[in-house]
Amino acid sequence: MKKSELLDIYADTIDQMVRQKHTYAEISDVLYSETGIRVGPTQISKFLTSRKKRQKYSAHPAVSQKTENADTITFYKNGTAFCYLTRTESGIYHFSYDEKYRGEKEFAGGIYDKIPPFLENLLPEGANLRQLERSVGTKEKFILLQHLEDSFGAITTTPVTKQVPDFSYNPGCYKETFLSVEEIRLDIPKKIIDAKRLDSPFSGETKLSKLSGAQPKLSVVFTGSELRLQEKFEYSNAIMKVDNLKFRDLNLVENMLLSMARFELGFEVAETFIIVDPQKEKGFLAGDPLSHLVTRRFDRSPPNRVYEAYELASLMELESEQKYSASMEEIFDFLETKLRPKDMRNIARQFAFSYLVGNGDLHVKNIALFKEAKRFSPTPVYDVVNTKIYPSLEKEDLAASLKNKTSISPEEIFGFLGGYLSRGEIHEMAKTVNGNYEKYLNATPFDTQTAKRLEAFFANRMSTLQKASIF
Ligand SMILES: Nc1ncnc2c1ncn2[C@@H]1O[C@H](COP(=O)(O)OP(=O)(O)OP(=O)(O)O)[C@@H](O)[C@H]1O
Ligand SMILES: [Mg+2]
Repeated sequence: MKKSELLDIYADTIDQMVRQKHTYAEISDVLYSETGIRVGPTQISKFLTSRKKRQKYSAHPAVSQKTENADTITFYKNGTAFCYLTRTESGIYHFSYDEKYRGEKEFAGGIYDKIPPFLENLLPEGANLRQLERSVGTKEKFILLQHLEDSFGAITTTPVTKQVPDFSYNPGCYKETFLSVEEIRLDIPKKIIDAKRLDSPFSGETKLSKLSGAQPKLSVVFTGSELRLQEKFEYSNAIMKVDNLKFRDLNLVENMLLSMARFELGFEVAETFIIVDPQKEKGFLAGDPLSHLVTRRFDRSPPNRVYEAYELASLMELESEQKYSASMEEIFDFLETKLRPKDMRNIARQFAFSYLVGNGDLHVKNIALFKEAKRFSPTPVYDVVNTKIYPSLEKEDLAASLKNKTSISPEEIFGFLGGYLSRGEIHEMAKTVNGNYEKYLNATPFDTQTAKRLEAFFANRMSTLQKASIF
């Protein structure tokens, strides 16, 4: 690394030492002990003088450098400069907070050999990521990050300037029925929604959401009667998970399970509804309706609140690709350090529910925490699916291993969760799912094969639970 580069990276530290009245020789010693590179006192002095001159002409060097493919990315929190990530010529990263930022510093500033996970986790995955890569013309995450807007939570790289659009449900549809299949005008071009073309290149700006997650989705604005794509620099108030033909009826399954969690078990869940979109095209899909899932953003509250929220992966310093690597033991140990006992119980209930309904996808990006001042609390439950009905996913019971296993018996999982929940509570949850799943299955317009698979899954799981005397 060049000495000038090193000085740039350690600028915050140097400033702080100067304020604390350390001599340049002392600063030189500290830099040497941290990096093994000797920068003399005179060079430090010159650096500080030239930096002062530079600062006179730009509010913050990083802000003025924020252009396409910049070496420094400015991250904004609620529209105000929050932190900076610099990529050096030698490919390492330096993360620092804005001088004026006075809030909590959750993530350590300094040198990173990769993009700090809490920033990397803001990027999308799957088809959404591929479309972003194509539209920007690179796979380099450092460059892709510069194109994020309206990311999960409060941190983003493109300041969003407008208010959060008002979100109002059709009264009566969502609140009173668990099915809530809506007839809403879709003001979104067909080619953008068409699942068959989701993976094909669009020219120009990507239309798929830049939010995290692997399933194809759009950032949308729901006005109560109409759903439209988010405009540039506009906050979205909802996410639309587009029907994904790879996993048939997945959206209907998610809507059903979140509804069951909410209405039968009292979970606080992300509010969702389904839009059924008749397919009129020719071909093997002709006449087959598509089901899109709309979920209201719980990290936005009109007219102007944007909540600070982090996926658990970010807080545990795991990147997107490591989302299946944290075990249940690690997750609970970590959460114990952040959450109050009542919230730990809710997390344990979430894991219990997931097991009862065959959700093998409860990984560290499918749990998120709000952060307000210094306090963390779980966000509403989201992304609950049944993975056991899809042949490519059916093997695993768990996304986060327990005792190093992802296929697990009721005794093992409820033995572990028994540390947080009483036998009576577990018994009640299992009994409630057993007593209600038929009702939910019958009320959802599943394709016959999906319905049969779900029926078979629940019959099988419930009988295993009964044999294990769970209820
Ligand atoms: N209702 C919501 N409000 C705000 N943010 C949400 C909401 N639902 C999901 N998110 C955010 O968007 C991300 C992706 O959503 P979700 O997990 O539902 O999609 P997915 O693509 O199915 O994920 P996966 O990759 O686990 O399959 C979540 O990890 C979370 O950060
Ligand atoms: Mg998810």
